[in-house]
Amino acid sequence: MRIVIEGDEAAAALRAAQFIAELVRCKPAALLALPAGQTPERTYAELARMHREQSLSFAEIHVFNLDEWLGIPGDDPRSFAAQIRRSFLAGVDVRPERSHALDGTAADPAEECADYEERISELGGLDLAWLGIGADGHIGFNEPGSSLGSRTRLKTITAETVRANASGFGDEREVPRLALTMGVGTILSARRVLLLATGPSKADAVRAAVEGPVTAQVTASALQLHPDAIIVLDEAAARALERRSYYREVESLQRELERTRKDRTGKAPRVE
Ligand code: GLP
Repeated sequence: MRIVIEGDEAAAALRAAQFIAELVRCKPAALLALPAGQTPERTYAELARMHREQSLSFAEIHVFNLDEWLGIPGDDPRSFAAQIRRSFLAGVDVRPERSHALDGTAADPAEECADYEERISELGGLDLAWLGIGADGHIGFNEPGSSLGSRTRLKTITAETVRANASGFGDEREVPRLALTMGVGTILSARRVLLLATGPSKADAVRAAVEGPVTAQVTASALQLHPDAIIVLDEAAARALERRSYYREVESLQRELERTRKDRTGKAPRVE
């Protein structure tokens, strides 16, 4: 795991955007899984700024939203699809036919989930799964107890996650109890995984995910099994990590190599 600790939320958001931009520049037709929630907002804004000011084009990429509430249509402002449209798609040049979302109102949710998996694999698989993390350590809506091999499916939301999402619905009772989500196995199949976490409320979840055992009780811990997982944190989200000074040392060596030791393809060696 590559642990990148930045000074504050803005710096972490920018760093996450730089990882995404780097991928899109190297592979313009990349397939990206995108998260909803508060955490990615600043990174979406950075990506839109890079599009405007640095002519970063997203015209060839395919985006796949990570998850969606069951029963909430994509044109409902409370849907994750609507949030991702507002925060990202509206400000960049992703083609509408290359933007994919799980339909929360599908007549047959199981079929919708299976079709989603098929679309991803027909297009060559995800190049990057970009994730946030829930306070209980979940990724997507893979709540504690989700199989680490799970694929896109319907999941029951925990009471804690219902509470965390209440503000978007005005009242806790309005929050759907079910959601469609890419599975842990779907996420692990991506060629690269990028998890962004900021703020003190994520510190315990980050600690469990990065330094705890691999367990279905903390689905983000499954990223320990991924050969190319990048965890971008601000100081507040990193504060419970026991080995944070070691992670900083590794990252500063990596950056030094990036400045001084590029190979013929322009890439620096990776250190761990
Ligand atoms: C929900 C979403 C996750 C998201 C998490 C954290 O559970 N399904 O994909 O990562 O919330 O959201 P936030 O970034 O708002 O804290």
